This record gives sequence, structure tokens and C-alpha cells, in this order.
Amino acid sequence: MKQEKAFILKGDLCWSTSVSELATMDDGYLVVEDGIIAGVFKQIPECYQALPLIDTDNALIMPGMMDLHVHGSQYQYRGLGMDMELLDWLNTYAFPEEKKFADTEYARHAYSLFVDDMKQSATTRAVIFASIHYPAAKVLMDLIEESGLIAYVGKVNMDRNSPDYYVEETARSLADTETWIRETIHQYKHVFPILTPRFTPTCSDELMEGLGALQKKYDLPVQSHLSENPSECDWVKELCPWSSCYGETYLRPGLIGPGIKSVMAHCVYSDEKEMELLGENEVLIVHCPQSNENVASGIAPIRKFLDRGLMVGMGSDVAGGATLSMLRSIQDALAVSKLRWRIIDQEDKPLTIDEAFYLATEGGGRFFGKVGSFKKGYEMDALVIPDRHLLGPRDYTVRERLERVIYSSEPILEGMHMKFVKGVNILDS
Ligand code: GUN
Ligand code: FE
Repeated sequence: MKQEKAFILKGDLCWSTSVSELATMDDGYLVVEDGIIAGVFKQIPECYQALPLIDTDNALIMPGMMDLHVHGSQYQYRGLGMDMELLDWLNTYAFPEEKKFADTEYARHAYSLFVDDMKQSATTRAVIFASIHYPAAKVLMDLIEESGLIAYVGKVNMDRNSPDYYVEETARSLADTETWIRETIHQYKHVFPILTPRFTPTCSDELMEGLGALQKKYDLPVQSHLSENPSECDWVKELCPWSSCYGETYLRPGLIGPGIKSVMAHCVYSDEKEMELLGENEVLIVHCPQSNENVASGIAPIRKFLDRGLMVGMGSDVAGGATLSMLRSIQDALAVSKLRWRIIDQEDKPLTIDEAFYLATEGGGRFFGKVGSFKKGYEMDALVIPDRHLLGPRDYTVRERLERVIYSSEPILEGMHMKFVKGVNILDS
């Protein structure tokens, strides 16, 4: 199929119109011009009548999902050690696996499996942790660029409290990072470097300050972990007694701040002070419910974040999450929000489907611009999901079909032949 610059996609549409509202339209027309959404219509307006029409035969059409926190270098051990808590799990599984990416051929093999699966999943854009090895990070960036997906990729930094076999010397960590930035910053159309201090326990003050200087010099975005697990939070208090909250350990070296684009994964234990800091510095919080369950971290107060108008997106956190499925993340966000409300805090009303869907699409899409909805002027990322296999003798509304696709939570969407990123069908080859 030739890729047209302007076209109309016909099918059963669902998209967020606000944080709390999901819109649907059966037999709708989604008009796309140069990768940008011109509008959603029940009838094709006169001015678009001549455009080529792709009829999806009543497939569900929804925005692409944004996986704002995923470890590409952990994909090969997903599903392992899910009876352990975070810090033991890092030592037992994460560090020994990530070390293997010193071997660029191993990295190429492992990362190609990761990228191939992401291409077949609900995710169209991602923010990814690689490993400490910058040549391997470049391999991952090449593979993402070839795939048609869009991503930020980070070479990880860590220079303390790490095993001897997986740690960097501070100056080398900074030098490698700068080399990698120079070699990748203008290299790709769809892939961009992002600074990636692993988390405060494994990054010395000197390393954090050096990364802050690189942020300033190259105006780069930043990703890390924040307030994920009780043992980690206690450790940060010990390591940084000067800080009034964990978030301040990123604020002081200039890794978050006004005008700095940043994503922080988890924020399960963010208190009032930290929430204020996250709001003031426009940090995009990444909710990773699967991971929070698996490595026994806890349940993030997403309702409090939304009530305060903080920015929230969603992530799989593979391999803390055992699957790349963002549909599963939506499902788990709903489930844990109910447990939090029932068991922990009756003020935190459970999330609705509309809200959880928003977090996985437009909520995270803000990291990439105007992305994640079918509003006019948004970049067109869309999934075309044929859901016949889920239908039976009764009728389902479009909304009910979406709910059932979410709860099927397939990591690889079998039968999906069209998945658009910026208006290009990346499965068309
Ligand atoms: N904190 C520091 N490193 C990691 C990691 O690899 N996964 C998770 N879930 N948390 C972390
Ligand atoms: Fe993580």
C-alpha cells in the first residue's frame, strides 16, 4: 500500500477529549494531513471528499500508547524474580543482565527482540533506559529508528553503590555520556538522547552535577526513578541528609527544574513537599502499576496527583513490569487504584477507565508534543485493532469493545496490520 500524505481512516474511533472523558464514534472518519489530525467526522466534509479512504472494516481505532518508562536492557529477563523486592531484584537480575550489554553483539540480538515486540505492541512512542554502555545504546537507537517507532533513549549513569562488575568511574561516565550525546543528538529523525542517572543511590554528587552541566550545555531531557520503594527512600535520606525530599536530590544538580523536560518514574512515596516540587518544575510523573506490584513497592497516589493538576503518564517499567503491554498497564492502574482507595486512603477515589486510558495516551503524549489524542492539530499516532475475535452474539458499544481490548491486554496485538506513527503505517512493509 502506498503511503499517502493525506488520507481518511474509517472505523470505530475512541480517544480522550480530557483527563476524565473518553469520546467514541462508530463508523467515524479520521482525516489526516501530513501526519497531523485534521479532525474526526461522522460524515466526510466536502473539502476532504477527494482524499483516499482506508476502510478498516469496523476495527477499533485509538491513539497509540506512550510507554514513558521501560528498560530495553531488561527485556530478556521479564517475568523473572517477581517474588523479590526492588533492591534485591536489582542485584539479582537487573545488574547481571545489563552488564552483558558490554558485548555489542549480545546487545544487538537482545535489543532487536525488544524493538520487534514493541513494534507489534500498542506502544507507538517510548522513553527508554538502555545500559551503561554507550555503543550498545547507539545500537538500540539505530534499531528504533529503523522500526518507525519514536523514542528517547538513555545511556544509564551509575558510579557508586553498584556491583564491581557493573559500575562506572565518575569521569569516564561523564566523558562517555558526552561522546554519546555528540554522536546521537542530530543523528536520527525519530530517536533522541535523554540523560539517565539511574537513581540517586547509584549516582554520586559529582556525577549528578556533571550530568546537570551536560543538561545545560545540550538542553537535554532527563529521566530517572523517584520515591519508588520504602528501602530506597530510606537509603536516599541517609545518603543525602541535606535534602528535604528525594526530589530535591535531582533539583539541586539541575536535573529537574523550570524549563527542563523531565520524566520521573513511580513517585509512590511523594509527600506534599515533593508534590509541590514536581508541580513547580513541571515534572512528568510516570505511573508504573505493574512494576509497583511486582517488586513490592506500593501504590502511587495518582488521584492526589490528578487533583493537584500534576502531569502524569504511564509506563510498563519492563522488567519491573513483566510485559510491554500498555493495555495491561491501564488494567493494573485501575486495579491498584481500587486497592489504594479501599485499603490505604479513602480520599483517593479509584481511577475511571477514561482516566487510565488518558494517562496511557494523551497524558504521556505531552512528553512528545501534541500527541496521544485525535484532537485537531495533534500528531497522528493510531492503532487499528481488529477485535472480531472478542465479539459474540450480543451487541457491544465502541466503548465496551475498548474496555474488552484493554482487559485482553495482549503484549503483541496479533492481527493488527495498521499502526500509525505521525501518519505513517509502520507495519506496512
Ligand atoms: N531503580 C533503580 N534502577 C531500577 C530499575 O532498573 N528498575 C526499577 N523498577 N527501579 C529501579
Ligand atoms: Fe524502572
